[in-house]
Amino acid sequence: MMQIIKNKNEISRIVGKLKKEGKKIGLVPTMGALHEGHLSLIKRCKEECDITIISIFVNPVQFGPNEDFARYPRDFERDREMASQEEVDIIFYPEPGEMYGDRHLTYVNVEKMEKIMCGKFRPGHFKGVCTVVLKLFNIIIPDNAYFGMKDFQQLAILKKMVSDLDINIQIVGCETVREPDGLALSSRNAYLNQEERKNANILFQAINLAESEVRQGRSVKTARISAVKMLKECSFVKKIDYFDIRDPVELKALKNPGKQNMKILIASAIWFGKTRLIDNKVVEMSQNQS
Ligand code: PAF
Repeated sequence: MMQIIKNKNEISRIVGKLKKEGKKIGLVPTMGALHEGHLSLIKRCKEECDITIISIFVNPVQFGPNEDFARYPRDFERDREMASQEEVDIIFYPEPGEMYGDRHLTYVNVEKMEKIMCGKFRPGHFKGVCTVVLKLFNIIIPDNAYFGMKDFQQLAILKKMVSDLDINIQIVGCETVREPDGLALSSRNAYLNQEERKNANILFQAINLAESEVRQGRSVKTARISAVKMLKECSFVKKIDYFDIRDPVELKALKNPGKQNMKILIASAIWFGKTRLIDNKVVEMSQNQS
């Protein structure tokens, strides 16, 4: 029977007891509005752990003042039903007051990596993500924690946080789940109208174009120019926040993928009408391509 726990002391106590019984604990942190992407994280967690916990918490601290915190999709009953279908063991569903109290003053910051890509356009976002994730880690102390590769910068930053702060939790990155036309699943896709939705896979197409150019030996600059051109030609694309080609570990900008960079990250964020879409691909270069 799936348990729904709202209190942090209670979940700590329950997990502590399960650990004493030798159970391996997996955590899937979410902000709710569950979709197939989250279900793939839950499935992976269930395969690798004895107990699967998901947290559902729309974290106010990771939203900027003009962002979509108020309208972020929330439907706990639907999420509860989906989690129960997947045989999740525990949902941790705290209120904002339970997570932050009245006078929260402490934040976690992974410097440099939080200022680039999405961080440049969403100041403070990754500070909010790291703070809430570290709090969830401290409350639950899971063995493994599962995150989607769609939010690649988030995944890279959390891996760095765990390594820099000697946190003994395995961060597991899981493949992006896509619609048949290539659009990466995201809770924010719900904001797209029908016409926008039909055209939204342009982001993945542009990333694929950059990939094919780099594979053909073109420079990072040329690949980027072609991809940006393709995006600009689509009338639904209102703004390109960034289209970057970087190293997938510390997210440093790459001039040209050389032999040292056998893997490259192609990542972009665009405004599609009033919806901000992000996507990325990690491309493995073979010897003769570099
Ligand atoms: O990826 C998300 O849904 C959120 O950023 C996370 C990791 C649950 C932290 O609030």
